[in-house]
This record gives sequence, C-alpha cells and structure tokens, in this order.
Amino acid sequence: MKIILGIGGGIAAYKAAELARLLMQQDHQVRVVMTSAAQQFVQPLTFAALTGQKVLTDLFAIESAIEHISVAQEHEVLVIAPATANLMAKLAHGLADDFLTTLYLAFTGPVVIAPTMNVNMWQHPATQANLETLRRRGHRIVEPDSGYLACGMTGPGRLADPETIADAIAQETQKRRDLEGEVVLLTAGPTQEPLDPVRYISNRSSGKMGYALAEAAAARGAQVTLISGPVHLPAPRGVEVIHVRTAAEMREKVFDHLTPASIVIKAAAVADFHLSKVPDQKVKKTAARISMELDPTPDILAELGRKKGDRLLVGFAAETENLAQEARRKLESKNCDMIVGNLVGGSDLGFESDENEVILVLSSGETIPLPRASKRVIADRIFDEVLTLRLTLHSANGH
Ligand code: PMT
Repeated sequence: MKIILGIGGGIAAYKAAELARLLMQQDHQVRVVMTSAAQQFVQPLTFAALTGQKVLTDLFAIESAIEHISVAQEHEVLVIAPATANLMAKLAHGLADDFLTTLYLAFTGPVVIAPTMNVNMWQHPATQANLETLRRRGHRIVEPDSGYLACGMTGPGRLADPETIADAIAQETQKRRDLEGEVVLLTAGPTQEPLDPVRYISNRSSGKMGYALAEAAAARGAQVTLISGPVHLPAPRGVEVIHVRTAAEMREKVFDHLTPASIVIKAAAVADFHLSKVPDQKVKKTAARISMELDPTPDILAELGRKKGDRLLVGFAAETENLAQEARRKLESKNCDMIVGNLVGGSDLGFESDENEVILVLSSGETIPLPRASKRVIADRIFDEVLTLRLTLHSANGH
C-alpha cells in the first residue's frame, strides 16, 4: 500500500522513524512529509534513508507547483504521527500553510492521526474540541498512551507505540476495502422540475449526503455510479457521476445503470410533483394569481422496489414528524431493505448541513439510531449496517 507519513514537530518525532521502518518491513511504500518543526527534532535524511524516497518538507521547494495534489492522489492512506496540538488545530480548522496541511486538504482517502503532547495540552477543551472535529470527519484517532512524558509530567499524552499505530492503519484500510466487488448505484441532490424555460420547482438538498455515500463506497473498494441532481459539489474520486436535472431524467439513468448494481441507495430528494406540459415561453406576469395543475413525478424508489431482484435497496426518508413510523411505512410500501430516516425542518441537520443524525429502519425489524456526526461518518455507518443486513438476510434465506 502507498502510505503518506506526515510528521509533526514533537519530541516523539524520533518514534516516527521506527514507525516508518515498521511500515517498510510490512511491504508498504512510505512517503514522508515533515513540518518545519518536525525537522528541528529529526533530520529529513533519516527518513529518506529509511524509505528510499526524498522527504517532502517545503511547499515552495518542490518539483511542481501542484505536488501536494499529485502526492495526495497517488497515495491510499495518510498517517499523521506524531500530531501535535498545533497540527491538530490546523487540521481541524482547515489551515493550509505548509506542505503537510495543504496535502491534508487535498487528500480524500482514510486518515489516521496519532496525537502526542503534554497532558494539560491534551486535556485542554480546545484540543478536545479539535479532536472531536477530526473524529466526526471520519478520521481514525490512535489515542496517546498514559505514562511518563518528556515534560516531566505523568498522564495521557505519550505517542502510541509504532506497532499500535501500524495495527490501526491495517484495520482502517482493511475495513475500507470491504466493498470490493460490489457495484453501488447512488442518487444524490435535488431534482429541478421546470415550470417554464426560466422557473422550476426544487428543494433544499445540497447533495452532501449522497456524495458522502459515494465517497465512502469508493474508498471501501466499490465500483460506484452516482446519478446526481444539480449540486455544487466536485465528483468524488473514483466515482462515475452522471448529471441529471428532472425526476424523469433521474429515473431513466437509474434504470440504465441498474443491471450490474448489487447495492442501490436513493439519497436524492426527488421532487414529488411536476408540470407535465411545460410552456415553451416564459409565463408572463399578467394576472394577480395563477394556478397550475401538477402531476406526480415517477416514484423511482417504489419502482426499484418492484424490480429489486437480489439487490439490497436503501431509501431515505426526510420527515418533519413521526420519523420512525413514516420510515417504516416507506420501507414496507416501497419494498426496501433499509430506510435512512432524517428529521428535517426544525433542526439544523438534514438538508444542506455537513452533519446529520439519522435512524436506520431495517427490514429485519431493527431500528438503529446513529448519533450526530459528519455525513461522511454517517455514510460509513450506513455501509457497515448494509453489509451486516445482507449477511442476516442471506442466512435467513438459507445461503
Ligand atoms: O442533500 P443534502 O443537503 O445532504 O440533504 C440530505 C437529504 C435530507 C436530502 C437526504 O438525507 C434525504 O433525506 N433524502 C431523501 C429526501 C426525500 O426526498 O425524502 P422522501 O421521503 O420524499 O422520499 C423517500 C425516498 O423515495 C427517497 O429515497 C427518495 O429518493 C425516493 N423518491 C421520492 C420521490 C420520488 N418521486 N422518487 C423517489 O425515488
């Protein structure tokens, strides 16, 4: 595996040499990136000798102006060990003032962070808040050990052993490949239903939930096709994105790509009504009031439920009340295996937010609440439960 090892400026930077050696012994390719503070503790030459590759240190002393992007794209895992309090704060807040922090923003794969610092700095609310932000973003945190610290104090703050960090990397990457061989078909975003050449009906969906699912599935090894309504999000790495505008176009593309799919997830907020005959010209403001007769759009999820075959079908439900009952009603009426229910309306979660809090209503009868977390973390939890549910359904069917 191709691993980036980012080294922050703590006394434990010397332990990163042991980690680099261990990862090399495990047949990984390791590219080291050091902050300038890290270089005060250990020479880049140490890591160049251990890894056989030039160490990246300076954003401006590199071969190409976009090397931080190409390095991010070429590697599968980013490990930051040791991560100091300052480095964690920069990562949590998206500051990008050196090679490592810039690369972090450009990196879309799994991130493993091993912090180390003085016990008071570790326990400070600012550090704990940054830690929580990084956790919610889906990063794996390898907690520091407790013991005697270089500052003379005793308590939590000591960098975890290289073996523990290497195990965490292995677990994270193995987990992330558990969708290999799966073909995942996803929908995301709103649809726009034209009323005339310049106006349309739509909704507040930003596409963030569906794109997070696409990113998670691709990172875990699935082949992913994403049918996306109009959103302002970049295509997740390794995902085929097909852009549509209306519910009818979404339906057509979903069924064009259905055959190879083993898992179908409909996170899109499809408009429920449209104007069947859209006027060719802009509707003029000639009357104080106009009325329009709207027809239902095709219910793509319900049709998928009728043509489900062996696939695992997941729908979403955005409700303003009676979430669990409505989600179960949709699960049954649309023949789904899982409905992801989110309460929208009153809270700051659901539409447009970076975080979500949902319940998973399963055909096995279970209801699983997922507490508030980033949409990327929620996406991973949904795939965890999709895989578990499939095993349950397979054994129930005697496979
Ligand atoms: O995009 P974000 O800003 O990140 O917000 C995420 C979200 C709130 C949009 C998402 O998490 C969500 O809840 N999506 C479904 C919203 C919705 O349309 O819910 P619904 O209860 O109206 O529809 C139920 C299910 O039927 C959905 O899976 C929907 O895709 C599907 N449907 C609905 C109508 C229709 N004509 N065809 C469908 O396939």
